[in-house]
Parts: sequence; C-alpha cells; structure tokens
Amino acid sequence: MRLAVQNLSFNYPGHPVLQEVALEAEAGELLSLVGPNGSGKSTCLKCLARVLRPVGGAVYLDGRDVAGLSGRELATRLGYVPQETPQVFPLTVYEAVLLGRRPYLGWSVSAGNRQVVEEVLRLLHLEHLAARTLDQLSGGEKQRVALARALAQEPQLLLLDEPTANLDIRHQLEVLGLLQALVRRRGIIVFLVLHDLNLAARFAEKMLLLHQGRVFAAGSPRQVLSPENIRAVYGVEARLWEDGVGLQVVALCPTEGWLPGPAEAGIGPANGSRGNK
Ligand SMILES: Nc1ncnc2c1ncn2[C@@H]1O[C@H](COP(=O)(O)OP(=O)(O)OP(=O)(O)O)[C@@H](O)[C@H]1O
Ligand SMILES: [Mg+2]
Repeated sequence: MRLAVQNLSFNYPGHPVLQEVALEAEAGELLSLVGPNGSGKSTCLKCLARVLRPVGGAVYLDGRDVAGLSGRELATRLGYVPQETPQVFPLTVYEAVLLGRRPYLGWSVSAGNRQVVEEVLRLLHLEHLAARTLDQLSGGEKQRVALARALAQEPQLLLLDEPTANLDIRHQLEVLGLLQALVRRRGIIVFLVLHDLNLAARFAEKMLLLHQGRVFAAGSPRQVLSPENIRAVYGVEARLWEDGVGLQVVALCPTEGWLPGPAEAGIGPANGSRGNK
C-alpha cells in the first residue's frame, strides 16, 4: 500500500480550510498529524476518508484515485475513526465491532469473521465488555470500541482522529503501542491526529505540522518539532530535549499574553516575567 496526497484543498463556504496539502506514506509507516485547534486536521482526515470531497487535488491509494473506488473497495482498504463517533442506536460492543466486518460479510456471519472480532476485542482488552451496550460505556471505553471496529475492518490504511483523547496514560501507551506493532508486523499505514507532541514524537516516525490549513513542516519529529516551529504555529515558548524515551516537549508559556497561575508559580520563563517575553 502506498498513500499519496497531492495538492489537497478544501473550503467551507467562504472559508478556505485546507490549501495544497501534500504527503506521501509507504506500507509500514506511522505518521502523525499535529497542529493547533482549527488548523484543519480533522478536515484533512475527512478528505482522505472521502467523507468530504476536496475542491482541489487528489488522494491516491496504490496509484488509484480514491474518488473512483467503489464503497466496498474503499471499505476494505481504508478505515477511519472520526474525532467524535455519533451513536445511532444501542448496539452491544460485540455488534459494534462486528460492523467493521461488514465489507466481508455474506448472508451469515462466518466463524472466520467472529474470530477476527474476538481477536480485536482481546487486543484492546474489551472482552469483558462484549455484551454491554455502547450507551453503558465510559468515554475511553467507547473510544477503544471505535478503534476496535476500524481494526476489525483489517484496512491497509487506518485514519484515526485523536484516538487517545479520552484515554488514561496506560491506555494511551497500550493503544499507540498496538498501532505501532500492527504497522510493523502487518505493514499497514497508520495516519493519526494527536495533540500530545511527546506521544506523537515517540510513536510516529514521520510528522506533519499543520498551520492554517497548510503543511508548515514535515519530516522526522526532530525536524518538525523545533522551538521556532512551535513558536510560529502554536504561539508558545517550548523547551525540548532528548532522553532515552524520545524527544520531550514542555510548553512553557504563550509567546504573547499572560499565563495565569503556573507562570507566577515559577513554571514559566526563568525571568519570571508572567509569560511576557
Ligand atoms: N461543518 C463546518 N462548517 C464550517 N466550518 C467548519 C466546519 N467544520 C469545521 N469548520 C472549520 O474548519 C476549520 C478546520 O476545522 P477542523 O475540524 O479541521 O480543525 P482541527 O484542526 O481538527 O481542530 P481541533 O484540534 O479543534 O479538532 C476550523 O476553522 C473550523 O471552524
Ligand atoms: Mg479535529
């Protein structure tokens, strides 16, 4: 599988959101998309997943324009988990994950399909919740079920919009570790939106930093996450260092304006200037 995105542009009425976004990924790569609120990350994923139709540019999977794929072809190649999954009617966890097998189901559910669902439930530690309905789950449990459904689809490209947003620190590590293992063992591509720059740098070998709908920087975490880029895009002074775990980023204070509390408590800049540099 090879993903190529060329000159992707998208507008909401009177409001350009994505401008000439380009990226490439090969089988076995985990990429992260980072950027401030409203920079266009979710819109970008929706254009890749064909939820939104771009006004310009194209998305190619193995050289084929996704605009020309049938629904079934798309569903067997690409899995997408949005930032928020609307709940339509109360399914059990098992049924919700089984829905991921829809592109492969005949008139009845084969033992093979059940096996995939059970394996995914096991991988995401959801077995004990299999018979529960989705409305009886916590936010983080629901998020893991949404990911489980996409994994059950066995796509070659997995698009995940903030998959760890509701997860505790242990589940964040488990989910990102699982995705990393799937990328390496099965050679799939995972493209995920993350706000946590430390996790993005640690688990993704490639990063894209989006700023006002454009790719501001792309490359390895070390290339993308510089104090200058973080200042320019997020408007934040940051301290970065490397340790045995990876590249670490701590946001110190906004570049301009006033940071209440922590700056005064000594977490802000060394000169104690309340965040004003
Ligand atoms: N349905 C919509 N109609 C009009 N504008 C929209 C719509 N959805 C999003 N936008 C706007 O498009 C821009 C990009 O939104 P998008 O959801 O892609 O941002 P994001 O980078 O995912 O942000 P976040 O980190 O908050 O999730 C924002 O300015 C947003 O207000
Ligand atoms: Mg978003």
